[in-house]
Amino acid sequence: MNAWRIGIGVVTMAWVAMCGTAQAADQIHIKFSHVVAIDTPKGKAAEKFRELAASYTNDRVKVEVYPNSQLFKDKEELEALQMGTVQMLAPSLAKFGPLGAKEFEVFDLPFLFDNYEQLHKVTYGPIGQALLAKLSAKGILGLAYWDNGFKQMSANKPLKDPADFKGLKMRIQSSKVLDAQMRALGVNPQVMAFSEVYQALQTGVVDGTENPVSNFYTQKMHEVQKFMTLSDHGYLGYAVIVNKAFWEGIPADVRAQLDRAMADSTVYANQIAKQENDKALEAVRQSGKTQVQVLTNEQRAAWKKALVKVHQEMSGRIGAELIQSIYQATGFDPGTL
Ligand code: LMR
Repeated sequence: MNAWRIGIGVVTMAWVAMCGTAQAADQIHIKFSHVVAIDTPKGKAAEKFRELAASYTNDRVKVEVYPNSQLFKDKEELEALQMGTVQMLAPSLAKFGPLGAKEFEVFDLPFLFDNYEQLHKVTYGPIGQALLAKLSAKGILGLAYWDNGFKQMSANKPLKDPADFKGLKMRIQSSKVLDAQMRALGVNPQVMAFSEVYQALQTGVVDGTENPVSNFYTQKMHEVQKFMTLSDHGYLGYAVIVNKAFWEGIPADVRAQLDRAMADSTVYANQIAKQENDKALEAVRQSGKTQVQVLTNEQRAAWKKALVKVHQEMSGRIGAELIQSIYQATGFDPGTL
């Protein structure tokens, strides 16, 4: 090889190295932390957002997803978002109280929604948008609602009548509405991070818990709970949130592509949520480890009767007007419970 060729080679290598550095320096990194398994509605939707964000921005944006409380547990992740250690989260709506946005606990009211259609009247409508807008004052932007599903109750004894709950210790998320719900059943509720639930059930620190089946199965709770009742007594879903200063600092053309990626991931999330929960239920049944219980109409009516008072009890905390506006949007009539 002559000197001229070697010279060209060196220049080419230097140019490639320079371009590589320029691209890396230009790349925007988004750390997205969450607490559930990858194989869940939220886990899959986060992966979808990662893929779409890369593809719509021609790899200008790199989303790093940290599932399963790998990076932060429930409470820490909210602090990390505010400090800018992570940029994106999708906490359960039951976990916004510590941010000073306790109105989100309205979604925890027992038997408020009968199905996803009623729920979407709120999350896709003006009430949902107004709730997300409240986060702005906390330095947070709410981008979307992602569904999980309806919660089931589990324990090591059958839970059929409200009286069956009396004296049990059950794990709940940090919501005061969930605290009131459990107390209305005579339960002693224990707030605990999601990552600690399996062990707490295994060692008997708590007797039972509530969650959609997708969470129950992917955290292997079916290995340590003998009974699960298909009660659908409440909803569990998420708001995808970002650090406001970070998000607004992203160049507008890139942000527009991220908004598109979020809109498409939201459609995906809310399409798969029900089927993921149905699949998980099938897997729990197949495992033979947890007996799945179905309520009779009379038993379901008794649960509703025991729990409806929580709506009234919590109206001071959440706001009677907000509760009424949801009743109106969904056609819910508390008199029918
Ligand atoms: C829980 O803590 O039970 C759930 O909120 C976990 C989740 O994010 O689905």
